[in-house]
Amino acid sequence: MIIKSLEYRFFRNYEHLFLNPDEGVNVITGDNAQGKTNLIEGVWLFTGCRSFRTRTDMRLVKTDSEASRIKTVFTSSDGENEEEITVDKNGRSVVFNGVKVPSMTSLFGKFRAVVFSPVMLSLVQQGPEERRKFVDITLCELDGKYARALAAYNRSLVQRNALLKDVPEHPELADMLDVWDSSLCEAASYVTRMRRRYISLLAPKVAEVYSGISSEREKLDIGYVSRSECVTPADFYTLYQNTRDEDISRGSTQNGPHRDDLSIDIDTKAARVYGSQGQQRSAALALKLAEGLMIKDASGEEPVVLLDDVMSELDRSRRDFVLNHISGRQVFITCCDPQELGEKTGGRVFTVKDGKVVS
Ligand SMILES: Nc1ncnc2c1ncn2[C@@H]1O[C@H](COP(=O)(O)OP(=O)(O)OP(=O)(O)O)[C@@H](O)[C@H]1O
Ligand SMILES: [Mg+2]
Repeated sequence: MIIKSLEYRFFRNYEHLFLNPDEGVNVITGDNAQGKTNLIEGVWLFTGCRSFRTRTDMRLVKTDSEASRIKTVFTSSDGENEEEITVDKNGRSVVFNGVKVPSMTSLFGKFRAVVFSPVMLSLVQQGPEERRKFVDITLCELDGKYARALAAYNRSLVQRNALLKDVPEHPELADMLDVWDSSLCEAASYVTRMRRRYISLLAPKVAEVYSGISSEREKLDIGYVSRSECVTPADFYTLYQNTRDEDISRGSTQNGPHRDDLSIDIDTKAARVYGSQGQQRSAALALKLAEGLMIKDASGEEPVVLLDDVMSELDRSRRDFVLNHISGRQVFITCCDPQELGEKTGGRVFTVKDGKVVS
């Protein structure tokens, strides 16, 4: 994937931006609050995913404007494509190669990118939901069947949980739980199998990237964590039946893929609990770079790599590793001090000032 051109109108603090990026490394530099992250955020939106910074679309629209328009021309293995996203009070809409796209999710797989931003430290620092999301988003993008199974699972879970809350007062409803147990177990099995498979393929890649970042001084291991060993639909059916009493007394489903997690250990200790700032940042970055390798393997397309503020808190040898290992694909990387990045990556430097690219 190579972005040939970017054009933003009334997007964040950009009134009008037009950029022909380099096919390799693009260093986006400038003082604080000038629009570096905004520039990267726009590129990410072309994947069809929500912003990594906000769930409120209207925040993307320049203050006092009614709509934002961002447009890109990019090449992928199927040739040159043009994508234009409009954001206004009705939400987001997209025209892809001149045709209006019915939903944002139907964009999945057309433009591929991976993004690292400081908010992704939550992957390592926060609870399991962030880590499940990390796995689910890529799997949904790579496998339409996974996206449907996950949506079906979540729908059935909501219904089952609502019923569990009603059963203590209306015990006659308990029989209906069988219906939801059956519909949950098929989806639970597919979601679990795909997640386990994905993580087993991702683990050696993350370990290798992390080993490089830490100059082979530290070892990072990831693994799938589940309260049950269930894999097949029959396993899950038995599980939901056996845990029904506990579920009724707690008023929600206690087991299943919605409770699973991804363990992230540095030198056998949980990174969330014991990792230093630099180690946690390195781990989140390794997860993201390895995600890029997975997307490349699964789709044959090299995703565009977006690195926002990746260098802070990393020592010199970790920074050097990152800079030496990002070439060979198109990269957008932000920083306040362009000298180091421009020279080491051989990249093109763009300076942003008050929503304009000034050099
Ligand atoms: N919808 C919007 N309309 C106008 N300006 C906005 C909008 N959203 C954000 N901004 C402005 O954009 C600026 C921040 O841009 P951005 O986050 O890209 O900064 P940055 O260059 O990455 O800074 P830092 O180095 O601190 O990370 C802020 O001044 C903010 O007020
Ligand atoms: Mg920023």
